[in-house]
Amino acid sequence: MKLLITGGAGFIGSTLCRYLVQQVGCEVINLDKLTYAADLRSLAVLEGNPAYRFVQGDILDAQLVASILREFQPQGIINLAAETHVDRSIEGATSFIQTNILGTFNLLQQARAFWDGLSKDDKSEFRFLHVSTDEVFGSLGQTGYFEETSRYAPTSPYSASKASSDHLVQAWYHTFGLPTLISNCSNNYGPYQFPEKLIPLMIIKGMQDQPLPVYGDGQQIRDWLHVQDHVEALYRIFTKGRIGQSYLVGGHNEQSNLSIVRAICERLDHYRPEGSASKQALIQFVQDRPGHDRRYAVNASLIAHDLGWKPRLNFTEGLAATIDWYISNQDWWQPLIDKSYDGRRLGLITG
Ligand code: NAD
Ligand code: DAU
Repeated sequence: MKLLITGGAGFIGSTLCRYLVQQVGCEVINLDKLTYAADLRSLAVLEGNPAYRFVQGDILDAQLVASILREFQPQGIINLAAETHVDRSIEGATSFIQTNILGTFNLLQQARAFWDGLSKDDKSEFRFLHVSTDEVFGSLGQTGYFEETSRYAPTSPYSASKASSDHLVQAWYHTFGLPTLISNCSNNYGPYQFPEKLIPLMIIKGMQDQPLPVYGDGQQIRDWLHVQDHVEALYRIFTKGRIGQSYLVGGHNEQSNLSIVRAICERLDHYRPEGSASKQALIQFVQDRPGHDRRYAVNASLIAHDLGWKPRLNFTEGLAATIDWYISNQDWWQPLIDKSYDGRRLGLITG
């Protein structure tokens, strides 16, 4: 199978490219703009592999996307290209609107033109999988779960831009018959995640004995899923999903932010020199994120029942392995800290 992956140099996209090429046996073309969040070193194992090709470019570039589709003739597109950090969307939303909304719009336009020109058989096999987030549903109270039928109620510029893109995808399915699918996944963790996100940021700051900034009271809840489980879910949705359907993907693993940070400290404490203070002493409660969603939790029973997917990785083991990966791979993250993000607080509204 030949697939066009967009955003394949990011955290989830690079995991997906490695999985598709090395484990599934797909041919992949990866279109990525290489923003601050991208890193081709995450794809080093695929270099020179004839089943893998990289193209640097923007999903907003209509001619480029059209020519890739024409020349590569993929059986489908999996769209992961996006601006993804809520705090950055508060600092400035322009790139979120451009990439997440207009970029998805352009991909839909080009996909439709390409799909229209396919033979009947190729047309029926083609799929467009849009990778979205559980954040489009806004915040839950203390109980309940997001369902595929939950009302869209995004609260941040990031989640509003992802919600808009989901609506465009649904419209292209209903109006033009483009065979689309959507996944709405919860928080991912694992190796190669850019150090602006909670788990890698806390591991790296903890390793360097810097304060660990917990927003507000730290009792916000997220549902954590290992990135490997996510990419396996994406492949399952792409190959077995019902056209026009959205699938929620989650880890059945609700954790408060504070409990995550405490668990990271506990693991780092295993490695601390004898007699030194526990990393727990580094925890600091800081000003809350504006518009901070209180709780996300996903009911992933549709994908379990209809497509037979369930998370495989245990969170305690997955988190420990992720912490150990960051400890062993400072040469991966240190250049990112030195050159593009030094760990400073983002997304506070001033003035
Ligand atoms: P990431 O920020 O690590 O990577 C995004 C990638 O997209 C980068 O490689 C970047 O260069 C590329 N990109 C950005 N703008 C582009 C453009 N205009 N054209 C081409 N490429 C562009 O993101 P991630 O965490 O891997 O997330 C991937 C997708 O999964 C996103 O759509 C995100 O909304 C969704 N998602 C993420 C999570 C999570 O917890 N990280 C959870 C659910 C859904
Ligand atoms: O739910 C899926 C979403 O998960 C994805 O769509 C997003 O792309 C991804 O970034 C993630 O969004 P979050 O806002 O949940 O992730 P983040 O890692 O930024 O924050 C997780 C929680 O931790 C959130 O409640 C804010 C809090 N936090 C974050 C940072 C960076 C802190 O308390 N301190 C911090 O320094």
